[in-house]
Order: sequence, then C-alpha cells, then structure tokens
Amino acid sequence: MLIRRCAVLFLEPREDLDIDWAALFAGDAALGANIRWMALAAHLGEEVEVTLEEMAALGGIGLTLWQERDDCEQKFGAAAIARLLQTGLLIGDDDDHNAHFRVRDEVLRSQNWRPLSATAHMFSRWGDMRVDKGMQFPSFEELVVSYGTPPGPAIERAAPGDAVALPAPERARLDDTLFQRYTGRNFDGAAVLPLATAARLLQRAFGAQGEREMAPGAFVLKKLSPSAGGLHPVEAYVLAQRVEGVAPGLYHYHPVRHVLEPLAAMDTTQTAELAMRMVADQDWFVDAPMMVVLAARVERNFWKYRNHAKAYRALLLDAGHLSQTFYLLATEAGMPAFVTAAVNEIDIERVFGLDPLKDMVIAVCGCGKASGAQDTVEMRYEP
Ligand SMILES: Cc1cc2nc3c(=O)[nH]c(=O)nc-3n(C[C@H](O)[C@H](O)[C@H](O)COP(=O)(O)O)c2cc1C
Repeated sequence: MLIRRCAVLFLEPREDLDIDWAALFAGDAALGANIRWMALAAHLGEEVEVTLEEMAALGGIGLTLWQERDDCEQKFGAAAIARLLQTGLLIGDDDDHNAHFRVRDEVLRSQNWRPLSATAHMFSRWGDMRVDKGMQFPSFEELVVSYGTPPGPAIERAAPGDAVALPAPERARLDDTLFQRYTGRNFDGAAVLPLATAARLLQRAFGAQGEREMAPGAFVLKKLSPSAGGLHPVEAYVLAQRVEGVAPGLYHYHPVRHVLEPLAAMDTTQTAELAMRMVADQDWFVDAPMMVVLAARVERNFWKYRNHAKAYRALLLDAGHLSQTFYLLATEAGMPAFVTAAVNEIDIERVFGLDPLKDMVIAVCGCGKASGAQDTVEMRYEP
C-alpha cells in the first residue's frame, strides 16, 4: 500500500491552563500549563490531537509523492502510521482503506486553495451554534464592565492645526438612500415580500447586467457591485419564508437566467426553524421574509488567483460589496436589511447541499418590512 500526507496541514502547540488544586492548597504556584499538539487539516475540518511520534511521521512523509507504507512504518513506527491513516492525516491509495479521506483530500487539492486560507475557512465554521451553547451577544454595558471602555471611535494622526479642512458635502441623489439605510432587527413577522420587490432586489444585487467573453470560453458577468478579477464567484442561495408567489423553501438564484432554482420545499414551521438555525439563534432576524446566503464558488476565483495570498480576502470583500448593494436596494424599497457573519455555516451547507471546500459560506443577508416595534436595538440616522 502507498501512502502520502494530506495536502494542507498545520500543527498548533495548544496550551491549556489548569488550576492545580493540590498546589493551591500547598501554597505553591497554582496555575499549570499543559501543551498538546493539534493537527489542523483543512480537508477534515476537525482538529486531531497528535503525539510527538506522529508529528515526526507527518514531518517526514511528503504530500506529493506516494511512498510504501512498510518503509514509512520502519522509519516512524507502525502504530503512528496506523493512527495517522485512521484519522485521515495520512492518505492511503487503496480503495477500502478510509478512501473517503482521499476523496476529501483530492477535492481540496483540486480547488487551488492557499493553505492558510483553507485552514482559516474550515476552522472558523460553526455548526449548531446557539445562545445556550456559548453564542454570546454581550451588551455594550457588559463589555465595558468586562474590558473597560473601547478604543475611541476616531483617531488623530496629525496636530489639529495641520489638518486640511474640507467643505461640508452637498446633498446629492444617493443621500436619501444612504441616510435611510439601517440594519433591521424588528421585522414584521406577518408581512409578505411582494414578488416584484424580491425580483428587483435579487436581480440588481446578484444578477448579471451583461456577460462578456474575455478569452475563448472565459466568461465574466457585469454586476452592479465590484468583484475581484471580475469573476463574481459569490452565489446567492435563498431561504424564502414569505415571498409572494414563491413556495416556502430553499432556492438558488441564477444570476443570468434570473430564476429561482428550487432546492427543497418546506413548510413555514420548517423555514422559521431553519432561519433561526442559520443565524445562530439571532431571533431578531428570523421574521425577515427572505434571507440570502452568500457562498463563494472558490474554484472560480482560484482559477485565476491560484494558491494566492490575497484570494481569500478578495472573496470576503466581494461578499461585503454584495451585501451593501442588497442593503441599499432594500432601503430604496422602504425596508430595512441585515447582514450577519454569525451564522451556522455547517447547517447551511447541509441544507443547501454545499461542500465547504468548494462553496464557502460567508454571510447571510435578509430584508423585510419593519414591524414598527423597537424590541431589539437599531441604529437609524437621526438628523
Ligand atoms: C460583517 C458584518 C457582520 C455583522 N454581524 C451582525 C450580527 O451578527 N448580528 C447583528 O445583529 N448585526 C450584525 N451586523 C450589523 C451591524 O451590527 C450593523 O451594521 C452596525 O451595528 C451598524 O448599524 P447600521 O447598519 O444600522 O448602520 C453585521 C454587519 C457586518 C458588516
């Protein structure tokens, strides 16, 4: 049997601090520190604790060339090799032996991820995160009690006398929309989003306004937000709760054909439960009649930006631009919107059928009619 190391692997010396009660009562230093080595392998997405012997094997077996298992066992010990194969940190070439690890490793290799970016993405995802499981939204008052006051909202980088005074901006066309935009946290749970509004929002925020062939077979879309390399890899997946003429459920929005492609039908209890789960228990968003998951097709971006130090950052920026355009369109339609990165990516991947090594869930947006209540804080512009 031939083996090699998984493609992307980082090892972190993790320090756990413990109170040593015996030492405390004996009057000695009571804080004990314990270091464990954690293997962070992007194709697994789950941490694996490794021993020093296993680390030596991981450091000695390369990720490219296949080597005889027997030779590796002789060098690094049969027990270490067996455990590393069993945990998926080493990959075997045979079909019966944990072949699913090889498949995941190959998916990762095929996408051209930068190793650090793949690791950052795979290990920052949440699954089933809820308020009662450690999802916390401390108030500003609580934060100040814990950490003192935050760094000030603005800084000076020059003496006041050296600063160049600028004229006050004149009012202009965009102002009405910009000043009315705010993050809604009190949605009307009965209101239905009119189809025409939903359609305009989706088309102007996520739809193509044109298509251009940059080289034979290499197409880019023109959208109303900027995108790194013009690639527009961020896809919009819709959770429709109450959209006029659209059955509750999950859809993919096709940016060229301007259609909603049905993925799963649901009843309204299921859509409400899923909405809550998607935004990790942020119940102030759940009444939004339409939510949109922003998920980047990394392969499209990494086709150009292969193993690139800036590519991951560019994907996050792309999603940020789309969400701002979404906000402004919702504002124009007289509605608040929201965007949140505090989402349960793993649950979202599961229901929409997305592979996190290929389709990177970045954020969830939503919008809907305001209820008029102020149960949860909002920050509206006050002249
Ligand atoms: C990347 C990002 C993540 C956010 N995540 C959350 C969130 O998890 N929960 C929430 O209530 N608001 C979230 N917001 C909204 C911000 O709290 C909001 O934009 C900010 O308080 C300013 O208010 P405004 O948008 O009404 O001007 C997020 C905004 C951004 C840009």
